[in-house]
Amino acid sequence: MNIADLPNAQAVFVHDDPEGLSASVAQRIAELAAQAIAARGVFHLALAGGETPRRCYEKLRHLSVDWAHVQVYFGDERCLPAGDAGRNDRMARETLLEQVAIPSANIHAIPAELGAREAAARYAAVLEQATPLDLVLLGMGEDGHIASLFPGNPATGSMAATVPVFDAPKPPAERVTLGLGTLNAARQRIFLVAGAGKRDALEQILLGKSLPAARVAAAEWHLDRAALPGR
Ligand code: 6PG
Repeated sequence: MNIADLPNAQAVFVHDDPEGLSASVAQRIAELAAQAIAARGVFHLALAGGETPRRCYEKLRHLSVDWAHVQVYFGDERCLPAGDAGRNDRMARETLLEQVAIPSANIHAIPAELGAREAAARYAAVLEQATPLDLVLLGMGEDGHIASLFPGNPATGSMAATVPVFDAPKPPAERVTLGLGTLNAARQRIFLVAGAGKRDALEQILLGKSLPAARVAAAEWHLDRAALPGR
């Protein structure tokens, strides 16, 4: 079983630890931002939630990025009150967005406090101005989920740009996510996957199981050693 055989891998980078992974992905984000801004005058970036990107965002804030020309979106959001400590946008604001010179109008939070259906409808309108996204960052759950697209959940089969999610196995049960079509239409996708908890899902994907992470179009995978299967 060779990790380079991940079916949707453009490239697989195995880092010694989460620190190395975070530094490397932060550098890639800064490079892609510079390229997009030089080519098109704007960088449309969708951030990942969860814990793994936290350190990457902390590192990114020290790199040189022309934040006035970056538009920030979110791959998914948890239906919790605005500002709640459990929200993905709160983590991104604390680790990155409040620390850099990005105009607040460039931060496009998912209004998940309105409930999944209403928030998904409103966010679809926001995304119309932004697609294709330049870069989508993705974590991967232990069950192979990405954003809030969970194995077996009806949202995962949706063709909509944004999708309301109910009965998610990872709390909270109600969420909003970008649809697989939106994620796959982006110019670039990068996975950040760290820790032994991710080995099983990676192994399943290598064995050909169609988990949500395997249904993502060509992507750069950044893993740490602990996540490697077969160890
Ligand atoms: C969330 C997510 C989710 C996350 C993965 C990985 O709302 O939690 O956006 O898709 O990225 O579950 O999370 P970790 O990086 O914490 O393992």
